[in-house]
Amino acid sequence: MENLIISGGLPLNGNVRISGAKNAGLPCLIASLLSSEPLRVSNIPHLQDVTTTLDLLGRLGATVELQENMTVVVDSRNVANFRANYEIVQTMRASILVLGPLLARFGHAEVYMPGGCAIGSRPINLHLEGLKAMGADIELEAGYIKATASKLHGAHIFMDISSVTGTENLMMAACLAKGTTVIDNAAMEPEVVDLADCLIGMGAKIEGAGSSRIKIEGSDSLQEHTHHLIADRIEAGTYLVAGAVTGGNVSVLDVQPENLLSVLDKLQDAGADIIVGQNDIQLSMNGKRPKAVNVRTVPYPGFPTDMQAQILMMNCIATGTGSITETIFENRFQHVQELIRMGSDISTSGSTVTVNGVPKLKGARVTATDLRASASLVLAGLAAESQTIIERIHHIDRGYHCIEEKLALLGAQIRRVHDNGTSREHLETDAEHVSGG
Ligand code: EPU
Repeated sequence: MENLIISGGLPLNGNVRISGAKNAGLPCLIASLLSSEPLRVSNIPHLQDVTTTLDLLGRLGATVELQENMTVVVDSRNVANFRANYEIVQTMRASILVLGPLLARFGHAEVYMPGGCAIGSRPINLHLEGLKAMGADIELEAGYIKATASKLHGAHIFMDISSVTGTENLMMAACLAKGTTVIDNAAMEPEVVDLADCLIGMGAKIEGAGSSRIKIEGSDSLQEHTHHLIADRIEAGTYLVAGAVTGGNVSVLDVQPENLLSVLDKLQDAGADIIVGQNDIQLSMNGKRPKAVNVRTVPYPGFPTDMQAQILMMNCIATGTGSITETIFENRFQHVQELIRMGSDISTSGSTVTVNGVPKLKGARVTATDLRASASLVLAGLAAESQTIIERIHHIDRGYHCIEEKLALLGAQIRRVHDNGTSREHLETDAEHVSGG
């Protein structure tokens, strides 16, 4: 196990380059299963979930080649195994995304049924109902979803809830189905749009991605393509909050600012000066303490649940009182108990927490429970007086490319140690990290 040790209280200043989006990268890599020709994906972030996805694709029979500059080429022509097994799905729920593509191209797919996770029960009924509407037979056997179809056909699907991976799974399946599929109440997240752009580049006929109605005209096959991922809006938002909670001045580079508007709006309400460029965002606090904000998480273009833990942490050291309501996941407040350990004044009532800001948090030994909870504890450690030790920090490697190196460049005092006290001496190379072939 690894821990992060942060000596907080220093303002962060400088520029940070934002990596490719995790939640666009995973489905785009998996989209390679739809074609017998190679898919090249660039701007791939250096993350544990990417390694797991490449491992999964390799187990299915795809060949994976790592090229320079974080580019991965996946060739799925020889895929001959259609099963995503227990070990992989337990490590990464997004493995469910292979269901639609495998079924559409090969007529058969088996995926271990994902269970609940640290943030909620997270059912997949909408993925399964959509595939059934497209002609799939689906059975549950020994914990596995077994899906078969001689040929999927187009369907009109209304999603009760606008699920991000549900929309992605069905959109991918529809690309090789016979006829037209319409997905109503589709998720509108930028990652869905990026996947649609990737699929369109592969030859798919998709209209309306980014709106609540997506129309897909099935094709017989898809072709070779190169796709460059969008920036990770949640990573960008997290660094901007790091600037805000330390009273610093932080710029995020290589981003699509239009994907972050709801977050920027809240940071402005908190008193940050924000300047938006074409591909960068500058945040200046100039030593000010943020003002508390009220936030309700909702699907895009509303405030993202993946930024809830970070903005909640900002309220902990803000002036005034702010309320945060989580409407997407039922168990996404596990960071609250840890933030209280550091001196935060927080009360919880159902899906809403009320935070009374205090002038300073105090460093403590805390435990990370999931990816975004980990991010909020890192932010708390940066803002707090004295030292914070964050245990079980491996969660953060699922979503933040080289977080301690990027924060150190902004002036943070942060290091990673093993439980036995040894520091990580050197950075592994990108190629060593993403070796999941
Ligand atoms: N839902 C259902 N049935 C379904 C699918 C979803 O009831 O079949 C419900 C969920 O329980 C939840 C809501 O619909 O209440 C929305 O969940 P969604 O399906 O959109 O979430 P997801 O696709 O499983 C993705 C991201 C999450 C992000 C959510 C919401 C990926 C790989 N994951 O999950 O990212 O929080 O959308 O935006 O894209 C993260 O990066 O930390 C993360 C958890």
